[in-house]
Amino acid sequence: MSSYDVIVIGAGPGGYVCAIRAAQLGLKTAIVEGRETLGGTCLNVGCIPSKALLHASHQLHEAEHNFAHMGLKGKSPSVDWKQMLAFKQEVVDANTAGVEFLMKKNKIDWLKGWGSIPAAGQVKVGDDVHEAKHIIIASGSEPSALPGVEVDEKVVVTSTGALELGKIPKKMVVIGAGVIGLELGSVYKRLGADVTVVEFLDSVTPGMDGEVQRTFQRMLKKQGINFVMGAAVQKVEANKTKAKVHYKLRKNDAEDVIEADTVLVATGRRPFVDGLGLEALGVEMTERGQIKTDAHYATNVPGIYAIGDVIEGPMLAHKAEDEGGILAEMLAGQKPHMDYNLIPGVIYTAPEVASVGKTEEQLKEEGRAYKVGKFQFMANGRARASMAAEGFVKILADKDTDRVLGAHLIGPAAGELIHEICMAMEFGAAAEDIARTCHAHPTFSEAVREAAMACGDGAIHA
Ligand code: FAD
Ligand code: NAI
Repeated sequence: MSSYDVIVIGAGPGGYVCAIRAAQLGLKTAIVEGRETLGGTCLNVGCIPSKALLHASHQLHEAEHNFAHMGLKGKSPSVDWKQMLAFKQEVVDANTAGVEFLMKKNKIDWLKGWGSIPAAGQVKVGDDVHEAKHIIIASGSEPSALPGVEVDEKVVVTSTGALELGKIPKKMVVIGAGVIGLELGSVYKRLGADVTVVEFLDSVTPGMDGEVQRTFQRMLKKQGINFVMGAAVQKVEANKTKAKVHYKLRKNDAEDVIEADTVLVATGRRPFVDGLGLEALGVEMTERGQIKTDAHYATNVPGIYAIGDVIEGPMLAHKAEDEGGILAEMLAGQKPHMDYNLIPGVIYTAPEVASVGKTEEQLKEEGRAYKVGKFQFMANGRARASMAAEGFVKILADKDTDRVLGAHLIGPAAGELIHEICMAMEFGAAAEDIARTCHAHPTFSEAVREAAMACGDGAIHA
């Protein structure tokens, strides 16, 4: 029986970051992972492969739609799907191998296999039982099931199947206009599929700033993605090559059917705790199946902690990573802190969508006095020069103190620009602090500065 200070179960972004930080802080650490490779959902079948396909398909879109206008004439590239998948896999392999290297570098033992917790202080992997002062559950999440829909990962797929389809579908139906549906829907639209998104609610990407939601949906429609909104999917009938998606409109109960070669079910993810033995241990869960933790990520069972997708909060890799790092620091006796209001959300479509802090809807609900500074990318020189001048930066600031309360961006590099605002908010900045910071010209970032100026006396270029 080997003995550790820390055993982490699950080597996704939450688990592996936690293990690295714990080892850096002098704790004897092991990580348990059942997959063949480290990195979890994010590196293997999530963030990384989806971004590789988004990047490759975006290049095609640029070639087909923007090159000629910039004077780049000639035939657009054709798609070699096998090679695109190979490129995606190469990126995944490099990333997962990188995590394995980091485990070795930090002297973290990888206990290969599926772990369970037979008793507090013990982790069982295969036939071996290991002892640990602290056990950290970072077992992540899996796609939620949808009643009436059977996934075969060939014709009816989750995001995992959608990342390795045998061929590019002619017709694709995406169930759910959330982040996965719109990112992967965009990929296949750009690669030539006829894509229809069926969404239960009346707006895309629930929880996002309303103005951004409307602009985002309009832009995606302009790119040729079809939307059926306010529609509850009843069932999907599928054979080996085709599927029929039956839905009912919520407003009038009208029923309809859409046929497709591929149906992507993207209606959310749920925490994954199978086989851990939590019930027998008496670990408390929330109504939504998440592991209940306190502000220090401790469960109700002493010595057992949980982080990442398996607990409450947004299911995002960087949220899991930060929780992993912070928990390791807490276990090493430090007193770190994480502000959950400052976790950015990014959708990696073109244009990108990014947000942090409060939405206008939330501020209204809270009855808070606020002001809005907005700047359109249309008036940003760099965006025009990049043929990416659609969208805007919107900054929300306290009406009296000018303190930045939130920001919502849609446009070029939004997923990078958002961090300037995260940083400003982390330091408690006022919009004027951003407005008075010299920004290089010509950059997309100038749109952030101008939006901050618009919270005050006004933007210059608007
Ligand atoms: P996971 O990454 O799910 O890792 C958990 C690991 O634990 C898994 O490898 C699993 O095999 C292992 N495990 C579980 N139980 C056991 C056990 N008993 N024994 C051993 N091992 C076990 N987030 C972003 O922030 N940005 C993005 O761009 C983004 N894109 C995404 C795209 C897709 C298609 C998907 C599906 C998700 C995406 N996400 C993205 C979400 C992101 O992947 C998750 O939020 C993140 O992976 C959560 O990290 P985690 O460490 O909590 O769990
Ligand atoms: P989601 O929660 O973002 O969206 C699910 C959508 O499906 C919602 O709009 C919901 O209203 C809709 N829906 C639910 N039931 C339905 C039904 N019966 N019929 C029609 N529509 C229905 O979930 P998604 O897209 O599956 O993503 C899961 C998680 O992965 C998210 O929490 C997200 O944070 C994470 N993720 C993050 C990414 C990023 O940060 N860029 C990329 C991809 C995933």
